[in-house]
Amino acid sequence: MAARIALVTGGIGGIGSAICLELADRGFKVVAGYYPAEKDLAEAWQKKQATEGREFEIASGDVSSFEDSQKMAQEIVSRVGPIDVLVNCAGITRDKTFKKMEPEQWRAVITTNLDSLFNVTRQVVDGMTERGWGRIVNISSVNGQRGQFGQTNYSAAKAGAHGFTMALAQEVARKGVTVNTISPGYIATEMTQAIAEDVRAQIVAQVPMARMGTPEEVAYLVGILCDDRAGYITGANYEVNGGLFMSF
Ligand code: CAA
Repeated sequence: MAARIALVTGGIGGIGSAICLELADRGFKVVAGYYPAEKDLAEAWQKKQATEGREFEIASGDVSSFEDSQKMAQEIVSRVGPIDVLVNCAGITRDKTFKKMEPEQWRAVITTNLDSLFNVTRQVVDGMTERGWGRIVNISSVNGQRGQFGQTNYSAAKAGAHGFTMALAQEVARKGVTVNTISPGYIATEMTQAIAEDVRAQIVAQVPMARMGTPEEVAYLVGILCDDRAGYITGANYEVNGGLFMSF
């Protein structure tokens, strides 16, 4: 059987990049989606991976735009093939206390982190249901589950992501398509490096494991959820947070 095709949005970012590697190592043909302004970074990333023995496709698309997401998906389908796995990983932060938050900071996070789930998933879900197999994994956050000082925008978008997961999971369950959420805690990436050092130290001190997670620790779970054998897991949320927030 030909390799299944996976699109990872935010594929050249901290967690996204590890997800691309995990899926490639599991035999998927992986397309790393990237933000159009990061073309040079994406090409450098692709080249670096090739020198390390992994061939990836890359695809440009602004996931906050429906039209751009549509173009990206169409281009992938014609150049690489139909998309069997979608990992919605693209995301940004614009941290500000609510009293200081400007409408642009609210909108940027809601469109990039939440509208994107509609914009990109809408392009691929019909193909998955028609072919009778698909995997959709939405990367949310511990801060969608418990809120975070300075992140009303991000927490709202990430909480919304799991609502999206649970609703879509019901609509496609009979068609061999699963939809799940992963909620990482604080993972060592550029995004968490941007938090002021003292604030970051306070946060890490609250983590029972007393450390940040690694992107690979998130990617491993994505790999499992995309496996054929994970076909009965749907509408679920998985925490990868070192014990920072526990729920069931
Ligand atoms: N709880 C209660 N009060 C707090 C607080 C907290 N956690 N943190 C700060 N405060 C208080 C301060 O003591 C200060 O009080 P006074 O005004 O009485 O002195 C006040 O709030 C400061 O308010 P400001 O509006 O001036 O805030 P600031 O500009 O100093 O900082 C911020 C705002 C930059 C958003 C900062 O709060 C921050 O960095 N928060 C952490 C945000 C965070 O965790 N982001 C995660 C990014 S990574 C990610 O998102 C990935 C993922 O999924 C986990």
